[in-house]
Amino acid sequence: MKGIIFTEFLEIVEDNFGLEVLDKVLELSNDQGIYTSVGSYDHKDLVKLIVNLSKVTEIPADKLQETFGEVVFVQLLRSLPPAASLNNSNNCFEFIRHVEEYIHVEVKKLYPDAVPPTFDFISESETEMVMDYRSARCMSHVCFGLIKGCSKHFNQEVAIEMSPLNDSGSEVRFKLNLVA
Ligand code: HEM
Repeated sequence: MKGIIFTEFLEIVEDNFGLEVLDKVLELSNDQGIYTSVGSYDHKDLVKLIVNLSKVTEIPADKLQETFGEVVFVQLLRSLPPAASLNNSNNCFEFIRHVEEYIHVEVKKLYPDAVPPTFDFISESETEMVMDYRSARCMSHVCFGLIKGCSKHFNQEVAIEMSPLNDSGSEVRFKLNLVA
């Protein structure tokens, strides 16, 4: 997984919980905390950091993944050149399609070792989008947070329902309903 995800994670932990908690989490994870944004690292190391952050803060790991996704959305958006970022997306649903059809495609071109998740769009109306998340990394809770961050970015209130399609969580159906 790309280092930018790790560097953002460490920064978010420091900003929200302080340096002491960050140090404790790194120590428990046997991790030096040395990541560069263009490097590539084992995604399991991120999972380990999240699990240990959960131990230290006593906040459930799923909840931490969600919050991480929500905060990292803004950072990821900021990392894109302006022309590539919004690209005529006027709302959350359009942007999610833009991520699948363009942004994650570009990520793979730029970094051949990156493996972003795939979204299968099942149905879409003006107020509802149903899509299936697929990734061997099973990070649907991060996905939940990213979608939440995205809806906030567009000033939309979106109710997000998640239902796993298998036991591992590598396939999860997302039902998004526009509330306001
Ligand atoms: C609604 C918006 C988005 C959603 C739902 C989404 C979803 C995800 C998820 C869930 C992951 C974690 C890996 C996995 O589950 O397999 C991921 C990885 C990633 N995403 Fe996105 N994403 C969004 C927007 C963006 C944006 C704006 C960028 C801008 C560059 C981006 C770039 C990346 C990168 C670099 C990775 C790491 C891939 C790797 O290293 O293998 N994403 N995305």
